[in-house]
Amino acid sequence: MSKRANDGSKKLRGALMTTRGAPGASFSEGEPPALISTTPEWDALKRHKEEIIDGTHLRELLNDEERNEALTAEYNGVYCDFARQRVVPETMEKLYDLANAAGLKDKINAMFEGEHINSTEDRAVLHVATRAPRDKVINVDGKNVVPQVWDVLDKIKDFTDKVRDGEWVGATGKPLTSVVAVGIGGSFLGPLFVHTSLRTCPEAAEGARGRQLRFLANVDPVDVARSLNGLDPETTLVVVVSKTFTTAETMLNARTVRTWITASLGKEAVKKHMVAVSTNLKLVSEFGIDPDNAFGFWDWVGGRYSVCSAVGMLPLSLQYGFDTMEKFLEGAWNIDEHFATAPFEKNLPVTLGMLSVWNVSFLGCSARAILPYTQALAKLAPHIQQVAMESNGKGVSIDGRPLPYDTGEIDFGEPGTNGQHSFYQLIHQGRTIPCDFIGIIKSQQSVYLKGEIVSNHDELMCNFFAQADALAVGKTDVELRSENVPTFLIPHKTFTGNRPSLSIMLPALNAYSTGQLLAIYEHRVAVQGFVWGLNSFDQWGVELGKVLASKVRVSMSQKRTTGELEGSSDGFNSSTTAMLNRYLKGKAQLKYAEAEDVFPCDLIDSDECRPPTSYV
Ligand code: F6P
Repeated sequence: MSKRANDGSKKLRGALMTTRGAPGASFSEGEPPALISTTPEWDALKRHKEEIIDGTHLRELLNDEERNEALTAEYNGVYCDFARQRVVPETMEKLYDLANAAGLKDKINAMFEGEHINSTEDRAVLHVATRAPRDKVINVDGKNVVPQVWDVLDKIKDFTDKVRDGEWVGATGKPLTSVVAVGIGGSFLGPLFVHTSLRTCPEAAEGARGRQLRFLANVDPVDVARSLNGLDPETTLVVVVSKTFTTAETMLNARTVRTWITASLGKEAVKKHMVAVSTNLKLVSEFGIDPDNAFGFWDWVGGRYSVCSAVGMLPLSLQYGFDTMEKFLEGAWNIDEHFATAPFEKNLPVTLGMLSVWNVSFLGCSARAILPYTQALAKLAPHIQQVAMESNGKGVSIDGRPLPYDTGEIDFGEPGTNGQHSFYQLIHQGRTIPCDFIGIIKSQQSVYLKGEIVSNHDELMCNFFAQADALAVGKTDVELRSENVPTFLIPHKTFTGNRPSLSIMLPALNAYSTGQLLAIYEHRVAVQGFVWGLNSFDQWGVELGKVLASKVRVSMSQKRTTGELEGSSDGFNSSTTAMLNRYLKGKAQLKYAEAEDVFPCDLIDSDECRPPTSYV
């Protein structure tokens, strides 16, 4: 494919030194860079879409073997087929040209070189350093951070070995076999995704025998009940995970679980039963967790990009053992190196990212479905929802100018075949939603039944292959007529086809390939943000709701204390005031009785109330 993909970045780097206003210059001082939509490369893609792509159908495109072969890429076992995207090889060349016009290579380099590319927070973006091998040098502000990363990893190995070997025991001398990880957003979704991915992986599960890992994320007593239900404080270790250690939900949950521990084991037990992961070690210590039991990370690791730091490595190493989790880091680093060095046309995250840019910005698709054909990836979509939507759901460029084009996409997904029996109707005959199909060649678990023509996993994968073609090829009225379908049903049974998807196949799903998959998605998101010219690493959009919730909290407490609801001017609009007052009236008591610690989990004793398997 395009040689320009390779040469362009060098040319562009040269150009950046002399040309102000190029889109790629977004990290340099001076005149603001031109928005990508004003470049000739963007215009060329628009024309290409109108002249070539609009008049083609995937049904015909898929008949071209040469094209199909050109639209695949493979790296270290990860096979990617994008022949069912609405592209021809020329489209890919033009997309790589657009990437060059956006200065993509320089932006990737700037990330790996520790430049403060998260400019609104004045931070480097170096989650790649959290999985770098010991001998790598990655500088932030002139200092190699890899030794710090490994200091924490060594501490995690040491601590988790001790807990798992029963050398570190609880306050009453019992081994700590249950872990509750308290955290939300990036301090929850990534670790939950990896845990769900490894639970049924034979090698990983071997290391988890006799242990359980649960998560407490939502600030909801129902989630408290579900995560603590049936646990014994004497054998439970709590890991409080919060980058800032100020997140309201996490801190209330942490105080709740601390009380749950101290109520039965006494205050001193916190030292043995609670540890923390945070960048804010001062607040960890003020909370009452021994600083020796705190595992740090750094402001250059974004929350949603933090699963390879202690955020994921501590709870997951407690569950599976450090050696297994080290393989996860190796898998992620394998893709990091590929992302940093491979030419664009062979580079999986770049290619997938550019295809997403194509689907969103040129084909006008505003959503993306993530459809893994393995139950073990059930939590991939929720994790990528945060990684992608918090990163690229922005309305302004990195230097604050309103963007004249939509960015980001609405991510959702479920494992196949469950999704097929849920929302696939809409993606086959309703809106056009580009799909990521993810298949595994060797299942984590085997079921073969005598007399069946395929194994259970084969059956699952038959759907993986079939769905992508059903979306792409569709079914015409002519075909329906030839099958004697009654005329009135023909419109209902017609499938337009021409609906884009891409397929990713992994040889097996284990710690290593989970790391690879994670890094592919993380970097793909970064590619999209780099090309759209926005900051994929801040998240100001989550702040306003948090501030308003604080105001509601103060007002709710005041109203409850005074018992005055009627005519109170609480500063909210009348709609909010009415709802708030109705809520307070509807509660059993307006004033709290003398404080008493209540743990709903104590009330639950039936199997139906046990936490859903995805949380356990
Ligand atoms: O939802 C906003 C957010 O800041 C996320 O970016 C982050 O992952 C989450 O809150 C949790 O933050 P913390 O780890 O600081 O508790």
